[in-house]
Formats: sequence, structure tokens, C-alpha cells
Amino acid sequence: MRTEVLDAGEPATISRAVQLLRAGETVALPTETVYGLAADALNPSAVAKIFAAKQRPKFNPLIVHLPARDWLDRIATIAASERRMVERLTDRFWPGPLTILVPRSPLVPDITTAGLITVAVRMSEHPAFSAICAGLDRPLAAPSANRFGHVSPTTAQHVLSELEDRIPLIVDAGPPKHGVESTIVSLRGGGIDILRSGPVTRKELEEFGKVNRARLPEKIIAPGMLPTHYAPLTPLRLVSELSKYAPAKGKQVGLLAWRSVKNAKGFAEVRCLSEKADMREAATNLFRYLRELDALKLDLIVAEQVPEEGLGVAIMDRLRRAAAA
Ligand code: TXA
Ligand code: MG
Repeated sequence: MRTEVLDAGEPATISRAVQLLRAGETVALPTETVYGLAADALNPSAVAKIFAAKQRPKFNPLIVHLPARDWLDRIATIAASERRMVERLTDRFWPGPLTILVPRSPLVPDITTAGLITVAVRMSEHPAFSAICAGLDRPLAAPSANRFGHVSPTTAQHVLSELEDRIPLIVDAGPPKHGVESTIVSLRGGGIDILRSGPVTRKELEEFGKVNRARLPEKIIAPGMLPTHYAPLTPLRLVSELSKYAPAKGKQVGLLAWRSVKNAKGFAEVRCLSEKADMREAATNLFRYLRELDALKLDLIVAEQVPEEGLGVAIMDRLRRAAAA
């Protein structure tokens, strides 16, 4: 199948995407975090095409993106004890990069949640994504639009390099606002568990209740949460003090610096996440630079640690996973 890349700014692109999704096809769509590979979440054979295109194991559940808030009670059965927290969180963060695990309703097919009793839901704030989801008027299942185990795509070109000829359409809206995947939380006893760090930070969540870090709910093994998920093929090493590191002679070493570097002697190639040490800018550059360095087939990528505060927690999480590969 030939993959078309169409500009999100063209009204014809939006209707083409809706038409393909209605016909049970997959379409790569921009979101405010990373590009997603979308299909009708309530159509099992459409969802199966996501797994096939990504070569993703079927035990790995998908995030369901809602066209409107009132869909929440159709796809989830939220316990009375959790309703208030869900409402407060969705009032504050939706549409936006917060994914919440809630008990699923029978409307959601098994394949979408990999048979789990929970469903991960969010609402994207990206104008093209929301226009397409609203046009379809059904929830969209959408994992990141990369092959399984690869880094998430932040440009239409990345998606093309991952999924060319496997999907009919990529909607191109340029780079996303955030650049790292949504924060995933689950709710427990009035508290909030952060299962994946992301653009919505721990500090922001603490206004809503006690926050616990990375405790997986029982019986759920989600590969996205395994240490080695976000892997470039080149070995990656994290260093805390760049000034103390010198590349070995004869080795081709790439540097992924956090901010401007005074001395990058001995490095074959340098990418700087943010010259002015701006965390938001760093997040939007992260996956692109990892891809660029990976493509150079170096012996090693050395990544400088970023301060673990705010969005830096999500960046360090992705770098640790890459380093663990
Ligand atoms: O920003 C994002 O969240 C992007 C955009 C496209 O929305 N999506 C994304 O999806 O990152 P994905 O599939 O690449 O990562 C979602 C993670 C996976 O690790 C999956 O295993 C986990 O969420 N997940 C999904 N549903 C779950 C559930 N019911 N219980 C536990 N983990 C779940
Ligand atoms: Mg992913």
C-alpha cells in the first residue's frame, strides 16, 4: 500500500482521514505529545491493523482518545469513589497530555485493552487530531506511530521512515508541542500513581492528592513500562558530569548534551537538547536527536543527564530506558 503524507492545514486532509478511519483503516495523526497511529477503538479489525503495522505484541494495550468528554462514561465504568478525582483531573488537564487508567465498559473490545479490565483514556488537544476524532465521532485507539520498541516519532518524516507502505495516510502538522508521550496515571484510594512520567508533572498532580511514583497496578505488564522500551540501536550511556568524560580514542562517539557545551572535543557528532537549558525545548528535541544520532551508526551515544525536575523527570525516564537497552 502506498503511504500518502497530507498537510493537516488542508480541510480535504481532515475529511480524507475521517473517511479512512470510518472504513476501518489506520491513519497516523499528530497529537500534542508525539505522532500516533490511530484506528477506530471500537472496531476490532481496525485495531488489529495497528498491531500489525507496528509489529506490536497483542498483549500491549492501547490508549483510547475520546472525541468529547461525554464519551468517558460510555467506554468506562467509573466507581463512585473515584468519580470526583476523575472529574477534577479531567477538568484541569483535558484536552491535554494526561492519560488515566479507568475500569473499561463492555463497549471496548478486548483487543484494544489487551484483555485488561482497565482502559487508558485521554483527550488530545491537537487541533487536527481533535477535528478528525470529532468528525469520526468515535474514540480512536492510538499508540505512538513507531515500530514496536523504537523511539516515538515527532515528525511526519519519522512516521514515514517507520511505517512507509504499511499505512495509507500520515497527517503532517509539523513537530508537536511537547515531544514526549503523555503522563499516565492510575487512581488508588484517593491517591494518584504515576505509571509513566510525561508533560503533566508530579508537582501539578500533587494539587489533586497524594502522588506515588511508578507503581504498576497488579497483574499488568505493559512493555511500555519496561526499562528497555525506548531504544535507539546504538548503545547509549548516561553521564552526570560531562567535563569528566572523554571519548575513547578510535571510537565514534556522539554526544547528546543537555545544554550548550564548552568543550566537545573528541566527539564525532553533537546535539544539544537546549542551548539555553530550557526543559520544554529539550523535550521537543529529544526523540529527533536520538534518531539523528542513531542514524549515524556510531559506536556509542553519550547522553548528559538533565535536572530531574518538572518535565526533566520524563526526559530522564526516556534516557534511562534508552540506556538500559
Ligand atoms: O502521548 C501519548 O500517550 C501517545 C499519543 C499518541 O497519545 N501514545 C502513546 O501510546 O504513547 P503507546 O501505546 O506508545 O504507550 C502507551 C503505554 C503503553 O506502554 C501501554 O502498554 C500502556 O500505555 N497502557 C495502555 N493501556 C493500558 C492499561 N489499560 N493498563 C496499563 N498500561 C496501559
Ligand atoms: Mg509507544
